[in-house]
Amino acid sequence: MEIVPLESAEQVAVLAADVIETVVRRRPGAVLGLATGSTPLPTYRELVRRHEAGLAPSYDGVRCFTLDEYVGLPAGHPESYRATIARELTDALGIGADRVHGPDPTPDGLPMAGERYEAALEAAGGVDVQVLGIGGDAHLAFNEPGSSLGSRTRMKTLTEQTRRDNARFFDSVDDVPRHVLTQGLGTILRARHLLLLATGPGKAAALAAAVEGPLTASCPASVLQLHPHVTVLADASAAGALARRAHYREVYDAKPEWQGL
Ligand code: GLP
Repeated sequence: MEIVPLESAEQVAVLAADVIETVVRRRPGAVLGLATGSTPLPTYRELVRRHEAGLAPSYDGVRCFTLDEYVGLPAGHPESYRATIARELTDALGIGADRVHGPDPTPDGLPMAGERYEAALEAAGGVDVQVLGIGGDAHLAFNEPGSSLGSRTRMKTLTEQTRRDNARFFDSVDDVPRHVLTQGLGTILRARHLLLLATGPGKAAALAAAVEGPLTASCPASVLQLHPHVTVLADASAAGALARRAHYREVYDAKPEWQGL
């Protein structure tokens, strides 16, 4: 794992946007894995800013897959992850809805949604770079503690803590769905590059447990330790509990330019 302790959330966004653009420049038909939540928003804004300034690579051939989705929201609900990703990123980049895929949470689609999503990911050739956030309890996508480290896309039930954490996007906690569809931890591991973003003090303990603690289903994000190409970009407060923080920074500062991230 490459862990890059940075000063600010702005620096995280700039480096994350660099990584994503590098992938798209190398492979114009790249498959991007997109996370929702607050953490990636500055990165998405930076990508849109560069695109609008004419500085970005073409997204004309890019396809996107979302990590997860709520179950039970009316179609087109503004807090559905499909609507969120369109609003925050893909519409502005000119990536049409036909090139943005998400698991199907409709009552008819639900029973087969996991298998179908796995098949769609495979048919697309897999994800080139997967953007990830981390929950305060170290959940990854909506894989709550206890999720199998080998899991595939399926329906899950949110914990009270996650529903409370996500209540800020709804009128009240009672409006936060109980059920979700989420890529499994094993699904996430198949992406070629994992880009985990962590900002703010609320992520410090979870991040330290994920990258320096034991590999365990009790800490879903610890599954990152099994992946051959992980980049963690953390601001100063999210990196605050890392025991080897100074070493990670030294490694990054001494890194030859040609290696990239
Ligand atoms: C949600 C999402 C995750 C996200 C996490 C952290 O539950 N399903 O993909 O990483 O919360 O969100 P935030 O970035 O808002 O802290």
